[in-house]
Amino acid sequence: QDLLHGVLPGAEVLVLSNREPYIHNRTDHGIVVQRPASGLVSALEPIMRACGGTWVAHGSGSADRETVDANDRIRVPEGAPSYTLRRVWISEAEQDGYYYGFANEGLWPLCHIVFVRPAFRSGDWHMYREINQRFADAVVAEARTEDPVVLVQDYHFALVPKMIRQRLPKATIISFWHIPWPNAETFSICPWRREIIEGMLGSTILGFHTQFHCNNFIECVDRFVESRIDREVQAVSLGGHETRIRAYPISIEWPPSALASVPARETCRAEVFREFDLAEGTKLIVGVERFDYTKGIPDRMRAIDALLTRDSSWEGRLAFVQIAAPTRSKLDTYSRLQAEAESLADAINARHPGRQTPIRLVARHYEASDVLKLFRAADVCVVSSLHDGMNLVAKEFVSSRDDNAGVLVLSSFTGASREMSEALIVNPYDTEELAAAIKRAMSMPLDEQAERMKLMRQQVKENNVYRWAGTMLVDSARSRTRERILALT
Ligand code: F6P
Repeated sequence: QDLLHGVLPGAEVLVLSNREPYIHNRTDHGIVVQRPASGLVSALEPIMRACGGTWVAHGSGSADRETVDANDRIRVPEGAPSYTLRRVWISEAEQDGYYYGFANEGLWPLCHIVFVRPAFRSGDWHMYREINQRFADAVVAEARTEDPVVLVQDYHFALVPKMIRQRLPKATIISFWHIPWPNAETFSICPWRREIIEGMLGSTILGFHTQFHCNNFIECVDRFVESRIDREVQAVSLGGHETRIRAYPISIEWPPSALASVPARETCRAEVFREFDLAEGTKLIVGVERFDYTKGIPDRMRAIDALLTRDSSWEGRLAFVQIAAPTRSKLDTYSRLQAEAESLADAINARHPGRQTPIRLVARHYEASDVLKLFRAADVCVVSSLHDGMNLVAKEFVSSRDDNAGVLVLSSFTGASREMSEALIVNPYDTEELAAAIKRAMSMPLDEQAERMKLMRQQVKENNVYRWAGTMLVDSARSRTRERILALT
């Protein structure tokens, strides 16, 4: 409440995202609530718990319809309700076009430079437009005031800011793009590039993780849309409306609330060693992500293979535990990646049949507290994304290490690498470099680990998710004041 009402007194907050923060599923044991594997949700949830308001999202769980009221609303979290979740329904065919099709086979590979060809089908585009309109209508229907603060999240809703602006011209619309934004040459291949940019320019403020992505976006506006650009203040004016383009590096709650239920390092280590049947003295390397081709999962396995091949003294003395939550498995690129990664893990394990299996690939979702337990138990955490807007796993690892130990190996192609230069920064495409970094991490003296870890912890603590949201809210309060003054003159 303080966070919001300190800067925007009396404002009503609405969040819009595709992924919902709480998913109700029917199981053999009745209805269970699940938290999705989503950086976006883990960043926004503490904000919504603090501010209250309404979160509009796609109702995706098998028991979602049974748990809402007649207006498709439910108060969350269960037990200590602090905000409203308003669910929007989408049919399977609509989901195929809007989510799997245009969002995840079009925009996702377009924005992540990992050399997967984007698929642009006009049927998907039409569905994307239709579903964007449905969500925009839901936001407008939920708004109780004429000038709410609307936080539009991610590439699923590029067209929504303009759609909301048409119905609520006084709204403060803060949009945040959670993935990278490509340069103009790359973006130019999208057949609907102008509509996408114009849709986003309905925002009052448009946020990206890094200045680099802001620059790319402004370059695209310059190339594809007739508008006025003020490069000094990073503002674009279109049809009498101004949008400010800003970098807001996303972060995590500090300390993460899930950490309260995680035992001390020694207990975590004992439990994880028991779970994976690891020999005493094993160096534990971990990775935790969605099973996504942008994350570089096979690349880090190849690095472990190279390391063991070059230096057999590590055989039997290390274990790499990779948790990979299956995601978007309906798409070929994702199911193929999972199959390839699984057979690569088997092949590497067969090549190094030492005292213990080096690669443990666990293809399932881990709850937040289990992830933090794994992080606390680890010697090394590897984040080898081929391209990533920010990557919150890197920040979560650091947040769990209040013992100031453990080493982070971090891809230079993540937004996080701009903020956490004390990690061992690597090019994940370079197998030898990645292998050398993992080896160095395993052998790093404790005092060097502590020095690096302290600096990274300080960085994340100071630039936590409240600062991310707070800075955007302060900037939007300025915009509101500016607009009020302009209206008077
Ligand atoms: O952060 C990028 C992102 O696509 C989020 O938008 C999303 O919540 C998360 O990754 C997981 O993806 P999905 O919602 O498709 O499972």
